[in-house]
Amino acid sequence: MTVELAKTARSAPARGSVPVHAVDRTGFAQAAARLPAATANWFRSVGFEGAPDSHVLVPGPDGQVQAVWAGVLGAAHPWALAALPRSLPVGRYHLAGDKDGGLVLDATAAALSWELGSYCFDLYKAPRRAAAQLTLAPSAAARRGLLVAAALASTRDLVNTPAEHMGPAQLARAVQMVARQHGATFKQTVGDKLLKAGFPAVHAVGRAADAACAPRLIELNWGQTRHPLVTLVGKGVCFDSGGLDIKSADGMRLMKKDMGGAANALGLAQMIMALNLPVRLQLLIPAVENAIAGNAFRPGDVFKTRKGLHIEIGNTDAEGRVILCDVLAYGAEHKPALMIDLATLTGAARVALGPQLPALFCRDTAVARALVDQGMALHDPLWHMPLWAPYHASIESDIADIVNTGSSPMAGAVTAALFLDDFVPAGQDWLHIDLYAWNQGSRPGRPAGGEAQTLRTLLAYLEQRFGAGGA
Ligand code: BES
Ligand code: ZN
Ligand code: ZN
Repeated sequence: MTVELAKTARSAPARGSVPVHAVDRTGFAQAAARLPAATANWFRSVGFEGAPDSHVLVPGPDGQVQAVWAGVLGAAHPWALAALPRSLPVGRYHLAGDKDGGLVLDATAAALSWELGSYCFDLYKAPRRAAAQLTLAPSAAARRGLLVAAALASTRDLVNTPAEHMGPAQLARAVQMVARQHGATFKQTVGDKLLKAGFPAVHAVGRAADAACAPRLIELNWGQTRHPLVTLVGKGVCFDSGGLDIKSADGMRLMKKDMGGAANALGLAQMIMALNLPVRLQLLIPAVENAIAGNAFRPGDVFKTRKGLHIEIGNTDAEGRVILCDVLAYGAEHKPALMIDLATLTGAARVALGPQLPALFCRDTAVARALVDQGMALHDPLWHMPLWAPYHASIESDIADIVNTGSSPMAGAVTAALFLDDFVPAGQDWLHIDLYAWNQGSRPGRPAGGEAQTLRTLLAYLEQRFGAGGA
């Protein structure tokens, strides 16, 4: 943690701690007019105008850094301070507030953005430099920012960790650790036990992997029976080689991140439990490696799924929907108030919307639109795509109830969602989110690599719908 909460709201800043004045462009213009001429001249000399993600150091007469002025995107922006921790000189900082005409930042945004700006995946390589430290006044809002940041960072870590060190067994261990932290129960059904327990499709996809990477259903349950049940499902394909329909080298390069749905679902579960939301939580993660071996599932195979529907395999690379179908059916058996699945399901969703906009599928258009609006407002966007029933024709099979790849390459994200739709009973509230879970390039607070997406938006939606917690 590079953000620390002071002992009391009135604690004086530590000796040597440097004040950070946050400004936007208009606020800066007004503040600059009231600054000492030498300081205003200095800002002009270095071209500082309060532009977002820019900053300027103000030297004191002793040659030490006396203050920092930093341009921010807005007082409540989740990336307000994200550019600072890894570019300011190593040391301690605190917020100057409205002193000298600065903005008073929302404490959640300040904590969140500083933490996200310090994030670095350092499992195999030391960071280039240490992050600067921020001290904030203690408050529930600041604590919320820290807790959300911690969940987002652990989601990133899980996605960034290569398949060699984040196989189905390690993913299960990660869920178990979170369960322990929050007093939740943990359970896993591994290998051939999946067949007895009624998850034949999860087994089929994962059965070719080495015994150490055996397929499994990971389950976490938390909360009180009197609260409404919320079920989170995450695609946990720890590596997607494509199976016998093997991917190209380029297509396979990033496939350690194919458990990004699971990592995101776990991140959301962490937030729900840490904030003590008044819900009962069930987290379900089918974890597999889509590997190649003599016992791999094949194109043309037919499997009877948990729900009783027979699915034909058109392509072993469309494995995500296969493992999810059993687990969505299982989740729905408990009749949750809401079921949400998160999955790096299709390349087609990326073709349609690119890496920054996860695709949202939802039977209730009003809910989808509200979520899209909320996502935009929170700078954690997602975009509504249709469960367009007529396209179901392209996933009809000659010999089974349904096939896992469309007869047409068009609308691949829609046909994948329609496949899942067949396994979720009518009347079940359900959100399906097809996400990328990856930053291709680096932006402040969003380094290239694994990414948590839509979690702040989903958290806000859950709080609005079921009530905020009493953390
Ligand atoms: N994991 C991939 C989808 C994916 C690829 C997500 C790249 C993000 C980036 C999925 O299992 C897959 O391979 N889907 C195929 C389906 C096709 C064979 C019908 C795809 O999208 O190409
Ligand atoms: Zn695949
Ligand atoms: Zn996949």
